[in-house]
Amino acid sequence: MYRSHNCGELRISNTGEQVTLSGWIQKVRNKGGMIWIDLRDRYGITQLVLEEGVSSNESIEIAKKLGREYVVSVSGEVIERFSKTTKIPTGDVEIKVNLLSILNKSETPPFTIEDETDGGEELRMKYRYLDIRRNPVRENLELRNKVSFETRKYLESQKFLEVETPYLIKSTPEGARDFVVPSRMNPGEFYALPQSPQTFKQLLMVAGMDRYYQIVKCFRDEDLRADRQPEFTQIDCEMSFVTQEDILETFEGLTKHLFKSVLNVDLSKFPRLTYADAMKLYGSDKPDTRFGMKFVELNSVAKNKGFKVFDDVELVVGINAEGCATYSRKQLDKITNFVKRPQVGANGVVYVKYNEDGTFKSSVDKFFNQEQLKEWANEANAKPGDLLLVLAGETNKVRSQLNELRLHMGEELGLRDPNVFKPLWIIDFPLLEWDEETSRFHAMHHPFTSPKEEDFEKMDSTPGEVRANAYDLCMNGVELGGGSIRIFDKSLQKRMFDLLGFTEEEAKEQFGFLMNAFEYGAPPHGGLAFGFDRLCAMLGGQDSIRDFIAFPKNNSGRDVMINSPSKINIEQLKELNISLNN
Ligand code: AMO
Repeated sequence: MYRSHNCGELRISNTGEQVTLSGWIQKVRNKGGMIWIDLRDRYGITQLVLEEGVSSNESIEIAKKLGREYVVSVSGEVIERFSKTTKIPTGDVEIKVNLLSILNKSETPPFTIEDETDGGEELRMKYRYLDIRRNPVRENLELRNKVSFETRKYLESQKFLEVETPYLIKSTPEGARDFVVPSRMNPGEFYALPQSPQTFKQLLMVAGMDRYYQIVKCFRDEDLRADRQPEFTQIDCEMSFVTQEDILETFEGLTKHLFKSVLNVDLSKFPRLTYADAMKLYGSDKPDTRFGMKFVELNSVAKNKGFKVFDDVELVVGINAEGCATYSRKQLDKITNFVKRPQVGANGVVYVKYNEDGTFKSSVDKFFNQEQLKEWANEANAKPGDLLLVLAGETNKVRSQLNELRLHMGEELGLRDPNVFKPLWIIDFPLLEWDEETSRFHAMHHPFTSPKEEDFEKMDSTPGEVRANAYDLCMNGVELGGGSIRIFDKSLQKRMFDLLGFTEEEAKEQFGFLMNAFEYGAPPHGGLAFGFDRLCAMLGGQDSIRDFIAFPKNNSGRDVMINSPSKINIEQLKELNISLNN
């Protein structure tokens, strides 16, 4: 028998019992006649004690040879500890060892298996199986398991069926590049890995499944960031005979259930904001609403007063950093440097200090008098002690720059507490977005998203203004999920493909199967997909999704542990009918 208990479960009430434990050596302390060992497994740490003259000589000899991460099995009696600790749940007891045996030796690990490790990111990823032995990573995976379990529980209770869809498919148009897989049996032809199961879940609605979900891997060949992996997981859902309202209700319900069951946090009703308002007030379609600092447009009070920088631009817009009027020259310079970084890309920032004595001090005192600056302050609802930070430029650009500055100021002022959760729905997304590079419209969500009925008439005249029945769920500045009500009418779908510049042949070749299915009684339907990794990171209070994935890829899309991607041999290439030029 390897174990009667695990390393996290013995308590004072077990005193006197004979037990057997197995696990990894965390630490050995040899104090002359006594040897203490911390034994670790997934469930916790239990202290072992060996005493010369009491424990068998054989066990003592083995204990002296133990190294970190050796795998051992021990038997002995549970005794009350002399010096107890409340740091671990087993801290009241220790095991007086009779028998100690080494099950497996270990090399010295390349980094310490501690909560705060000395291992860098690359090393941790190379030895991920050791990294996962550390509490923080293990706890993240435990949290992930809890989230998927609770997701299934909730969706089951709502009559959703989990249906698996294939991974070897044909390109799905989610806007990123596809990963492709060559087909040996069909020389020169390729499968694509799904960017999402979008078309399949729609086919399942035509098939009458009514409510589908799947916790599913998706694959996108795109630039990677802290919240993006080339293969990631979605909670993918679709429902028939529903309106947008039904969908928002259902998934608001799921989100609330997850926060309650995982964190014991009660979320109240999610506010809704239109895309247009989100851009106007926050310069982002995923605003962090844990803090205010909403945008204040200043065109009416700041333009046409002789300051060329403002007069020549589309939009003058600012934020009010409350209580920051005392910022020093150095602090203001830091803000200027921040907005000038290439990632933000502004030329500079105008500041106005609203001093406690009611006077104003600004970087544009040459152009604006006290009365005029007071007007700015009024527009911004600023009080004495506040600091206005103002940017100017082309509307979309300046909004996105001010969004970066707003988030930066929120961070600086400690307004982005990871233990506060502010969900909101962003609704009424535009149907299309103009792509300068290709000079054509792209679907903002995907080509199956339905336009709002009241905007149908604009589809021919001003397609850029058509709004969609599309929505995103955002929280704390993160896009957790998104979806839409779908087009289920073949002629409207055809019109959409037209708008996107598909010829009839191209549409047929790529999506003929869906158009055909729509000939056979497609029900009205819609759905949504959560980014499951992002949801886990949010629940775990972290920005990066990487430590919520057991074996993630690095920023160059590599798995440094298995060293992939890698070359394949010439025979394999030949078999696949692929020739490389070099
Ligand atoms: P969308 O493309 O918005 O919608 O994706 C849904 C959610 O998936 C997450 N996500 C990612 N997470 C990690 N790494 C990535 N590379 C990545 N890309 C996306 C985001 C996002 O909100 N088929 C539609 C859904 C629908 O219409 O029902 C879709 O995939 O959290």
